Amino acid sequence: MSISGHHNPTDGDQRTFHRTTLDLGDMLLHPWGRASDEPDTLLTGLTVAAADPLIALWNPLTTSDRSEAQAWLEARQDGWDRGVSAAFAARNATDDALLGSVTVRWVDRADGLAMIGYWTLPNARGRGVATRATSAVTTWAFRTAGARRIEIAHAVGNKASCRVAHRCGYLPEGTLRDSHRFGDGAYHDEHLHARLATDPEPAKPAKCPTS
Ligand SMILES: CC(C)(COP(=O)(O)OP(=O)(O)OC[C@H]1O[C@@H](n2cnc3c(N)ncnc32)[C@H](O)[C@@H]1OP(=O)(O)O)[C@@H](O)C(=O)NCCC(=O)NCCS
Repeated sequence: MSISGHHNPTDGDQRTFHRTTLDLGDMLLHPWGRASDEPDTLLTGLTVAAADPLIALWNPLTTSDRSEAQAWLEARQDGWDRGVSAAFAARNATDDALLGSVTVRWVDRADGLAMIGYWTLPNARGRGVATRATSAVTTWAFRTAGARRIEIAHAVGNKASCRVAHRCGYLPEGTLRDSHRFGDGAYHDEHLHARLATDPEPAKPAKCPTS
């Protein structure tokens, strides 16, 4: 992975996310930009994402139309501006098509505790986009932003997300009961996974815990 706009943290700005592009060869992870700076295809991609049933269930997006998508982009900008969250658009290196999104944000910045989340567009699924993008953002957050521990929580029924967490080296730590209200309006149990900065790079993924 090559990192452009790479920032070496100093004591004063440790644990601040700085806008960076992560180059994974065939895929680029770009900080989500202002609506006026983004190509039309990205705004369309956001409306397609919001309409996808799996995203609507497990990771609802308020980007159903262009004006909502613009407001969503402004919130991502604000996160970057304040250094509190880092939201990346995963794009095809060749044609810039939107593939998905990965966001890491501080839960307790002073303590180095962060949370990461992701979604991919239906036509980009099943070829490692979420796994590769989440791994890259994880490594970047450990190396450049001083993250100590990053968590993933996913609904117990969301098997694909569980696989992504395992693939990215996020170890299962237990089941949270009725911990989050999802897009179906119901509370679901969630698996909590976490990776520590001191954990080794993932090798062979472990099995998902049984629900
Ligand atoms: C979860 C999601 C991000 C996965 O994206 P993706 O790009 O297809 O993921 P990858 O291709 O990197 O890996 C998918 C893994 O899930 C597995 N998977 C995919 N669909 C699955 C399913 N329905 N049941 C079980 N496993 C599944 C794949 O086999 C792969 O695991 P493997 O490498 O061990 O074989 C995508 O399905 C999505 O956007 N879902 C809706 C939003 C969401 O759930 N976000 C996460 C909220 S916590």
